[in-house]
Amino acid sequence: MKILEAFQGTDVSRADALEGLKFYGSAARAIDGEDSNDAVHMLFPEKLEAAAHEFLTGFRGASLYAVKANPHPAVLKLLWRAGVRRFDVASLREVELVSDLLPGAELYFMHPVKSRQAIRFAYGRGVRAFSFDSMDELNKIEAETGGASDISLFLRLQVEGGGAAYALGGKFGATLMEAPLLLSRARRMAQKIGVCFHVGSQCMQPGAYREALVKVSAMLQGAGISLDVIDVGGGFPVPYPGMEPPAMQVYFDAIHTALDDCGFADTETLCEPGRALVAKAGAVAVRVEMRRGDDLYLNDGTYGALFDAGVPGWQFPMAVHTADGRKLALGQTGFRFFGPTCDSCDKMEGPFFLPDDIEEGDWIVIQHLGAYGFTMQTRFNGFYSEDLVAVEDIAASNGTVMFPVPIAV
Ligand SMILES: Cc1ncc(COP(=O)(O)O)c(C=O)c1O
Repeated sequence: MKILEAFQGTDVSRADALEGLKFYGSAARAIDGEDSNDAVHMLFPEKLEAAAHEFLTGFRGASLYAVKANPHPAVLKLLWRAGVRRFDVASLREVELVSDLLPGAELYFMHPVKSRQAIRFAYGRGVRAFSFDSMDELNKIEAETGGASDISLFLRLQVEGGGAAYALGGKFGATLMEAPLLLSRARRMAQKIGVCFHVGSQCMQPGAYREALVKVSAMLQGAGISLDVIDVGGGFPVPYPGMEPPAMQVYFDAIHTALDDCGFADTETLCEPGRALVAKAGAVAVRVEMRRGDDLYLNDGTYGALFDAGVPGWQFPMAVHTADGRKLALGQTGFRFFGPTCDSCDKMEGPFFLPDDIEEGDWIVIQHLGAYGFTMQTRFNGFYSEDLVAVEDIAASNGTVMFPVPIAV
């Protein structure tokens, strides 16, 4: 994968954004054309653009893309082209990547525990927004920015995360009790202060944002503190089989109403979507290397792009492409998957329902993996693929059978 030269401005064509990526008309053509020994990672530019449009037009504040979900340069550039101008970064390398690639982007360093080098580097690169959840982190930010006052400081608060498939509250975040003291100190240091939280990833309940906002508002009123910015974080979901959330606009409406009810109607508002911007825009095609009864041995697994299929045990929309073009059986069997590494943790219980007669050499296109898929790969045992191809349409063609068809893709 070649990192493209930096570019700036809104005049980025889709061809510029996808420069260096091979382009195919369908998932089937990509599999045949790549003829790869490794998994084939696919990007669907139209789906990325549609998700960006949904946030940019539906959410009333600014949408920061959470780069960790998929930091591929083509993804960053397509989002920029679609109008995303602010990016949530979590590490020195993410700061470096986005500031090199998109010099006009506004970066928010939203990891609440940063290294001193990372803070210094980020400030030097023009980053002016930092999150924190302790006095120690405020001390680090003060020291490493040379006591800068041209910064925004966001207090990360712990919230419940009850409605989320992935709770994110256990590691970071100050309590509501700790918040007033931390915010008063931040107020003395910064140009703007804000609060941020994360209701947990793949949050299935729009009301979770309201619950968090109500608590933040009560804390601020009790302490007599006002905010310049409120950041409702990420957590916006996408549909997976068995996890079909309400429409995104229901989330936006719930947040907008809660902001108004909680006294934040005139407060600058941010959100930090990762999964919801990129998940539907990516897929990984994996090959069946062996079938043993109802077990399929694949060329990618939990150490690759399929962590979410193995560890939290999620289901994904899938399609099958037979390399020999044969017609697949209509009956389905529930399969267990094994990844290619020698580690016995590299297994995905499923059951994943696929045609009864799937066999060695067939490809399974596992969809909605544009977030936390490609980026989660390790190099363990030599099984990985850094190549991403752009695909015009996921629609079935040339022997690819969508199987089963649990939700619209
Ligand atoms: C601080 C922060 N913001 C945003 C995100 C993106 O979350 P999601 O992909 O659930 O939208 C994460 C994910 O871990 C995060 O830690």
